[in-house]
Amino acid sequence: AAIEKGGYDHFMLKEIFEQPKTIYDSFRGRLDVEHNTILLSGLDSIKDKLLAARRIIIVACGTSWHAGLLAEYIIEELCRVNVEVEYASEFRYRNPIITSEDVIIAISQSGETADTLVALENAKKQGATIFGLVNVVGSSIARISDAGAYTHAGPEIGVASTKAFTAQLAVLQLFALKLAKLKNTISEERYVHLLHELNAVPQKVQWILENELENIKTIATKYKDANDFLFLGRGYNFPIALEGALKLKEISYIHAEGYPAAEMKHGPIALVDLTLPVVFIATKDSYHEKIVSNMQEIKARKGRLIAVASFGDMTTLELAEDTMVVPAADEIIAPLLSVIPMQLLAYYIGVERDLDVDKPRNLAKSVTVE
Ligand code: G6P
Repeated sequence: AAIEKGGYDHFMLKEIFEQPKTIYDSFRGRLDVEHNTILLSGLDSIKDKLLAARRIIIVACGTSWHAGLLAEYIIEELCRVNVEVEYASEFRYRNPIITSEDVIIAISQSGETADTLVALENAKKQGATIFGLVNVVGSSIARISDAGAYTHAGPEIGVASTKAFTAQLAVLQLFALKLAKLKNTISEERYVHLLHELNAVPQKVQWILENELENIKTIATKYKDANDFLFLGRGYNFPIALEGALKLKEISYIHAEGYPAAEMKHGPIALVDLTLPVVFIATKDSYHEKIVSNMQEIKARKGRLIAVASFGDMTTLELAEDTMVVPAADEIIAPLLSVIPMQLLAYYIGVERDLDVDKPRNLAKSVTVE
């Protein structure tokens, strides 16, 4: 087992560290910055359906659902098409309206999650076209899909998903950009800019792993005994707030909630006191001024302010008690970076609490029964 872990203490840490390579692998043969093109044959094969679709429905569970939520924000922004994100367990039972004009994107690491699989079977019967975004080659969801793309993250052993999630985001970014290009809803300039930004993601992830590790370990040690955590984000970083809370819950058994930063006023702000760590995913984007004022509100109530901030952002650095820094990036791409500190924070808090981070109690790698 020690050999399988490649010198790391746990599979989870090994898989976090693999991400510069796995993200690169999900771009390989697809993202071509020399010719400014994206090759995604699965998308091409349902191109007519996609161009005619009145909406796209994304179906997933768990961490994969968080990837779907971000995809909703990005696809709607870039492609100007309606996107719905559904929990597979709800979608399969609530008699949803599905027509042959709907395209469904199914997101699943394992390709075997029962709720997702049955939701797709139902949708298929009603004529929808299924695009599967799956990590495990030849899995049930891959086989039921009309078209798809593999995430190429390699086997993921840690129960809490890390590298499979960033691979999903990487491919979904390509999907959105390619569709936007086909629909002509993006300028050539922004398209080329985003292609190059995507291409730089693996080295930026590497930067975080090299430069922020010790800092995040220190932060983990400092907050490891908290009873609750709040994770807040806006816009493209809202799904990352949800994922940050989920990772912490799974690995450390600390109660954590993820919320849209402004929505905290409608509930979670009642929890804020001297002991509550509040993590803001506050990278520099078009929402930044808004999230800064949310941070000030927490500070005024004496919450423990922790932030994920863009390199060089002094405002956030001065406001927060502790900061985890990520390289600057376009706001659409930034979540691929801001999730890395979330994974590391959860990991090190779990390790500090002496828990089995690779196999948290009660959780399964893939939920193949209801
Ligand atoms: C389980 C795993 C999660 C995963 C979820 C969905 O809960 O522990 O890590 O996100 O299932 O799994 P899938 O394989 O469909 O992505």
